[in-house]
Amino acid sequence: MPELRNSTYRHLEVSPIAGTIGAEIAGVDLAQDLPEEVMGEIRQALLDNLVIFFRDQKLEPDRQLAFARRWGEIHLHPFMQGMEKYPEVLEIRKTPADKVNFGGEWHSDQAFAPKPAMGTILYGVEIPSAGGDTLFTNLYRAYEALSPSMQRMLEKVKGVYRGNNLSGHDGQSREKFYAGRLAMKTRDPGDVQTTSTHPLVRTHPETGRKALFVGGHLHKFEDMSEAESRPLIDFLMRHATRPEFTCRFRWNSGSLAFWDNRCTMHFAINDYPAETRIMHRVTVCGDTPY
Ligand code: SIN
Repeated sequence: MPELRNSTYRHLEVSPIAGTIGAEIAGVDLAQDLPEEVMGEIRQALLDNLVIFFRDQKLEPDRQLAFARRWGEIHLHPFMQGMEKYPEVLEIRKTPADKVNFGGEWHSDQAFAPKPAMGTILYGVEIPSAGGDTLFTNLYRAYEALSPSMQRMLEKVKGVYRGNNLSGHDGQSREKFYAGRLAMKTRDPGDVQTTSTHPLVRTHPETGRKALFVGGHLHKFEDMSEAESRPLIDFLMRHATRPEFTCRFRWNSGSLAFWDNRCTMHFAINDYPAETRIMHRVTVCGDTPY
């Protein structure tokens, strides 16, 4: 099914930035208490484009939170500490002293939670003069481009998603991986569930479309060993990140991206070793995948 990008808008200008995912939106000031009609159009633009981008916004953390709360409850990151004054806002910060970046692998946010995040709202505060872009990929397309037999087989499979061991981290725990390499503060998740089992092919609750729910948190398949699961996970990750399913966003300070974690993955590129990048991230709670 092609992207349904032919909605008409009265309040927004919506300009797709790539063939299958991503659109820039003009004509809206997110710091305002937006009327329901405008919020409805933003929702439509998100469902049609999977990730939407706004430029030249002036958003203090309280206004970013106010906008995020219009979409649902705020999800607290189990492993990372939020800002002191705004614990629901995660400051993503990388300076020249840091070796790794946060989010530098393909993933959907909180896929390891029993109810993974619905959406993420990321605001650019300080952006490198070049680099620090974010990639996004369309997981509907990833599912739809598989052969019918593969689709049928995967529809029976469940994935085990783990929060403390991302695939690119060579088996190290998140804390060990980040220790001494990224200054952002981690925290003990306490009782929060950080491993969950979800259908590998999930149905988007609003569009009814099926998406291939892969990502760095996908550790193995249910009732299969890691060794049995890994080759298929590797294939699906390569497949899901084919260039034609992706878009790439170049940030400025004041840019905001809002993505739908139910049908996308994203990847923060770490290519600015001598510069600082600071972002404010708020994540909105989602539903149990089915
Ligand atoms: C993230 O994975 O949420 C961070 C994305 C980014 O910093 O571009």
